[in-house]
Amino acid sequence: MDGNGRWAKLQGAARIFGHQNGVTSVKDTVEAAAELGIKYLTLYAFSTENWNRPGDEVSALMELLVKTIHAETPTLNKNNIRLLTIGDTNSLPEKCIKQLKEAMADTAKNTGLSLVLALSYSGKWEIIDAIKQLAQETKSGKLDPKDITEALFESKLSTKGIPNPELMIRTSGEHRISNFLLWQLAYAEFYFTDVLWPDFRKEHFYQAIINYQQRERRFGKTGEQIKQNA
Ligand code: FPP
Repeated sequence: MDGNGRWAKLQGAARIFGHQNGVTSVKDTVEAAAELGIKYLTLYAFSTENWNRPGDEVSALMELLVKTIHAETPTLNKNNIRLLTIGDTNSLPEKCIKQLKEAMADTAKNTGLSLVLALSYSGKWEIIDAIKQLAQETKSGKLDPKDITEALFESKLSTKGIPNPELMIRTSGEHRISNFLLWQLAYAEFYFTDVLWPDFRKEHFYQAIINYQQRERRFGKTGEQIKQNA
C-alpha cells in the first residue's frame, strides 16, 4: 500500500494524512475483493523495516490501526470477512495486540474473504523464524533433516494454511518486492501501477485483475503443455 507519504506531500500535509486517507482505499479494496468472491487478500500494512520510521509516524500508524479495526469489525462481520494477521505481531503495542485478538476472535467463524494483515512482517524475518523452529526440532531429535520438505517448511511460516498469492499488486510506481512474502511469491504474477495508495479505488483493483486474467501462468512448463492440459 505504497505512496501514502508522497500523496500527503502533494497536498502539503503531514505523512499521517496520507495514511488516514489510505484507510478509504483499504475499505474500497476489501469491499471489491469480497464482492468478487476472492478468498484471500493480504495487505502489507507495516513491515519490520517500518519500525525505523520516526517515532511519531509509527505511533500514529498504530493508533490508526487500532481505531480502524475497532470501527470496521462490525462491517467485516456483516460481509462475512475473517480477519487474520501474519508477522511478528507480539512486537506490536499492547493496545494493538488486544484489538487484533478481539477482531480475529469476533470474525473467526466467517467463511467469505479472509483479510490478512501483514504487521511487523518481513519475508526474511519469517524465513529465519521457520529455520529456527526446524533447527530446534532437529536438535531435540524430533526431526530428521532428510524429512525437511517444502510442505514442512511452509507449515512453519506465519502464512501456514493460507494459499500462496496468485497476484501481487504494488502501487505508487515502485518496482521492488521490499521483503514481502519472499517464499510465497515464487510463482505469483506481479502488477505495478503508478497510482498512489490513497487514490487506489475499486476500478484500479479491477484493472489489475483484468490484466492478471490475460496472463498465461506456466509454472515452468511450456505454453503448449499448459494449453494441452486446459
Ligand atoms: C506505505 O506508504 C504505507 C504504510 C507504511 C502504511 C499503510 C497503512 C495504512 C494504509 C493504514 C492502516 C491500514 C489498515 C489495514 C487499517 P509510504 O508511507 O511508504 O508512502 P511513501 O512511499 O509515499 O513514502
